[in-house]
Amino acid sequence: MDLGSSAQTKVERNYPLNCWWVAGFSDEIVHDLVGRWLLDTPVLLYRKSDGTVSAMEDRCPHRAAPLSMGRLVGDSVQCGYHGFTFNQDGQCTLVPSTGRPLAMAKVRVFPVIENPPFVWVYLGDPEKIAEVPLPHQLDWAQDHRFSSVKGRLDVSANYILLKENVLDLTHFGFVHANSFKITDFVSSPSFETDAWTTTYRQSFKNSPLAAFYADPLGIEPGTPFDREAWGSFVSPALQTAGVDFVRPSDRKTMGQFRVTHATTPVDHGKMLYFWVIARDYGTSPEQLAALEKATLTGFYEDEAVLVAIQNMHDRYALDAQPEVSVKADTGGVQCRRLIERWMARETTIQSGET
Ligand code: FES
Ligand SMILES: [Fe+2]
Repeated sequence: MDLGSSAQTKVERNYPLNCWWVAGFSDEIVHDLVGRWLLDTPVLLYRKSDGTVSAMEDRCPHRAAPLSMGRLVGDSVQCGYHGFTFNQDGQCTLVPSTGRPLAMAKVRVFPVIENPPFVWVYLGDPEKIAEVPLPHQLDWAQDHRFSSVKGRLDVSANYILLKENVLDLTHFGFVHANSFKITDFVSSPSFETDAWTTTYRQSFKNSPLAAFYADPLGIEPGTPFDREAWGSFVSPALQTAGVDFVRPSDRKTMGQFRVTHATTPVDHGKMLYFWVIARDYGTSPEQLAALEKATLTGFYEDEAVLVAIQNMHDRYALDAQPEVSVKADTGGVQCRRLIERWMARETTIQSGET
């Protein structure tokens, strides 16, 4: 029976389902129910008593109540509406009004991989999971020299807008003119692109270090320094970036800075943005607190622009006057192409072609 679903008005998705996406940070998934919309799908997450994470559809097959409104009974989930209970395989083990299990009542269970700091979930075609690249391992995550700060922003914008944002750093001199004050990202970097990824690389020679970089390194702001910067579109779900600070006199690397951007679509106009910044210098609690504060200031500046752009897309058709692109948009253009390629593979895969 149609109870007034508005699904017909949904905008066509621009993300692949056959892809591993970040569902949350490891340390936020505990032995308690978390309900979260990911990829237009209600997802229930909880950590089981053996320490592994379970993900299943956050919708009771009885009358569609979110299971996250219920409670955990051991490792089983009891719906908060009429008490139907589901084990970790999604099978109904008890209907309280009958006192019996109900075989036809099942909840879809999703594959999960935990690679701290992230919990990854796969909502795509189970038959095709082996054909999809596994979640990326962050090189610094197992390196004890690195310390990190992290957070999540719930951004009212399509996830691709953020991916493009972090692939074109020429916005720094404008959006972040009063926060990061890093003003030398002025020209387009070089790019290498393969079937799944694209990576920019940019070298800075004797460029005065902004205080954001210099202070935690113990260097006087404005000191000429070399930087090797890079950033990768790893998958539709993940981008990584880094800066190595190199002393010009002896080419010694004085610090490594790593940024991780995991963007998971909630729906066409919203994303969960999980960010992590790690570095092997300036790791005292005070310095990390300052890093978190400065980072958030900058990310809120990005968020304001992206939300305004999403509003523009939603309310004002761009067809008559398409966007123009310049060389600095290479990363963004490649990002769109790579996502289209992921989507095309999915169509091919799902139609059974090879
Ligand atoms: S809606 Fe879940 S038990 Fe009825
Ligand atoms: Fe930015």
